[in-house]
Amino acid sequence: MKTNFNKPFTQQEPIDEATIAEAAEIMRSGRLHRYNTLPGEASEASALERDYAQWQGARYCLACSSGGYALSVALRAAGLRPGDKVLANAYTLAPVPGAIHNAGGEPVFVEIDEHWHIDVEDLRSKAEESGARFLMLSHMRGHIGDMDAICAVCKDFDITMIEDCAHTMGARWKGVRSGNFGKVAAFSAQTYKHINSGEGGLLTTNDAQIAARAIIMSGSYMLYGSHGAAPDDAVFEDIRLDTPNYSGRMDNLRATILRGQLASLEDRVHRWSELYRVLEVGIGASTAIDVSRRAQHEAFVGSSFQFRPRLASNQFEKLIANCAARGVDIKWFGAKEPRAFTSRFDSWRYLGTPQGLPRTLAVLERTCDIRVPLTFDSDDCALIASIIVEEVEGLR
Ligand SMILES: Cc1ncc(COP(=O)(O)O)c(C=O)c1O
Repeated sequence: MKTNFNKPFTQQEPIDEATIAEAAEIMRSGRLHRYNTLPGEASEASALERDYAQWQGARYCLACSSGGYALSVALRAAGLRPGDKVLANAYTLAPVPGAIHNAGGEPVFVEIDEHWHIDVEDLRSKAEESGARFLMLSHMRGHIGDMDAICAVCKDFDITMIEDCAHTMGARWKGVRSGNFGKVAAFSAQTYKHINSGEGGLLTTNDAQIAARAIIMSGSYMLYGSHGAAPDDAVFEDIRLDTPNYSGRMDNLRATILRGQLASLEDRVHRWSELYRVLEVGIGASTAIDVSRRAQHEAFVGSSFQFRPRLASNQFEKLIANCAARGVDIKWFGAKEPRAFTSRFDSWRYLGTPQGLPRTLAVLERTCDIRVPLTFDSDDCALIASIIVEEVEGLR
């Protein structure tokens, strides 16, 4: 008889009791808005900015309402003008083109390679063709591309890189934290991410002007002086009346929930890596499935796992259904119609006629994706891997 898996793929770990107590204290205080402080009191939102800037190794940090919000504010604060072109790897999730559109930019999608990284040659030629001044680089599903080569293209064409680190909080490339390569980085604290406050975003940068503009845009009014990792007040003087308020602040309750998780983030990164390795060994053992070859100097966070079964396109629906019947929830980027969280560049119709990206399409047509919540253990991952392998091989 076949063994099935019976844990939900969407179950995150609970918030620890000490953090729950601190969150309850915030609610008791009634001071949930980040600027609602007693004399001499620093708000939780500003304390989170200070702590996260320190953890990330960035000079400035802004806590805001979501990762998508952080991305669009990053573009605006970095000087995007309406109609400006923004290069972006075509394999990403809907909030990324949405953030570019929201900021008034026009995405120019770049092909990916078979390991889900941006294709650097295509980046170079599209940088040249488009004249874009911005690159929004999504480290999609935690796959970090060749940052030396990507940074070289940005340098050659004077492109401002914004890193979308929704899936790489805590990851490193050649020892440098993801988010510290570009001019600005955006992180998400939405439930399925590496720290979880339900919704939430963090923006980091070392550029004082960008930080000041982002802070005012997030809705600081003239209270920017109370931020936890902000430039000196003098930097705001020149821009404070020329910068709009696009309200998208973080509140103290979410900030408390996130601060409580920062201390254990490194440990969680480690646990994710161990689970990833179990899946990699189990799924990678099958000659019927391609998995990612990870670069040695990439210290990634394995909070999800991608693989490409060597099956015909018309077998994927059956594979997904067979795995689902055994409790394994697979997302597939090859479906004609977008489903749940999973959509593709050719389904973002508001951007006009889809750009021709044959190589990306060929990779995505076979790309399967699973979440790896930390409520799973190594035995769970070994079982999931064996179910996937059995079901793929059974269809061959
Ligand atoms: C790749 C990627 N970038 C950005 C975001 C945006 O994050 P948020 O949901 O916090 O807006 C997400 C969210 O799922 C994402 O997957």
